[in-house]
Amino acid sequence: MPKPSLDLYLAAPRGFCAGVDRAIRIVEMALEKWGAPVYVRHEIVHNKYVVETLRAKGAVFVEELDECPVDRPVIFSAHGVPKSVPEEAERRGMTVVDATCPLVTKVHLEAARHSEEGLQMVMIGHKGHPETVGTMGQLPEGEVLLVESVEDVAKIEPRDPAKLAFITQTTLSVDDTRGIVAALEARFPGISGPSREDICYATTNRQGAVKALAEKVEAILVLGSPTSSNSRRLVEVARAAGCARAQLVERADVIDFDALAGVKSIGITAGASAPEVLVDEVIAAFRDRYDVTLGTVETLKERVEFKLPRIVRVTDDA
Ligand code: F3S
Repeated sequence: MPKPSLDLYLAAPRGFCAGVDRAIRIVEMALEKWGAPVYVRHEIVHNKYVVETLRAKGAVFVEELDECPVDRPVIFSAHGVPKSVPEEAERRGMTVVDATCPLVTKVHLEAARHSEEGLQMVMIGHKGHPETVGTMGQLPEGEVLLVESVEDVAKIEPRDPAKLAFITQTTLSVDDTRGIVAALEARFPGISGPSREDICYATTNRQGAVKALAEKVEAILVLGSPTSSNSRRLVEVARAAGCARAQLVERADVIDFDALAGVKSIGITAGASAPEVLVDEVIAAFRDRYDVTLGTVETLKERVEFKLPRIVRVTDDA
């Protein structure tokens, strides 16, 4: 029997961002330089496939520093860490490699600068997400007030409403964040903030591409892990843009093909921490069942690259 036909559209840009690419390279280069095991505090990026691949090469993932022996290198994940973590590593005499994305570090520096100017910070972010924990942990407790929604803006009680600045998590929904910033500016007219939010280029671009995809297809699959903030935002953005059948899938083997029966066009995108191999796997799974015509919905090209830290680029005897 001939296979039914299906139009598959890939969003571009999708998948790995420069910060994720750099963080994974850092773990691989640390393994080359020091051999296994190297320790990684928290999942290097929020993707199960990536974590398992690096674990198989000798990376050991832990949640806290005290789970690492002092004589092995420890890598901090792309999400960043509270200031207390490198301080503790230094006290313990550990070799540290910081894989914090440079765009997260930029937010850390912004927070520190505003604090030095005497401003209390408001962070727009998701409670408990490691990036939010890391960014809030750049300043002493109580110096950063967290808001997750427009409703939260009415609840915060700053020390001095005239001396406030805001920062944001890098992987938020661009549209939702705009609403929260507007609510902050309405309640605290003098609040300082970045000229654009701190949402990074990769988050912004992937959300733009999935919006364009949502106009073209009947269903969208977003490759990504449930822990990945930016992947989950892509599902929400696709739904808000009119594609009600948008869902997060970790890998091809969890796709409910029966639920997609009769659909003629499907869009595929991937969160910033999801490798392209998982997209290829999904395309192959559709090709097994359908006569696939493959297209791309491209909104722009990305050319961002970040430099690797010197400690992994240089050998000890160099
Ligand atoms: Fe960095 Fe944005 Fe990626 S903050 S890790 S470039 S999603």
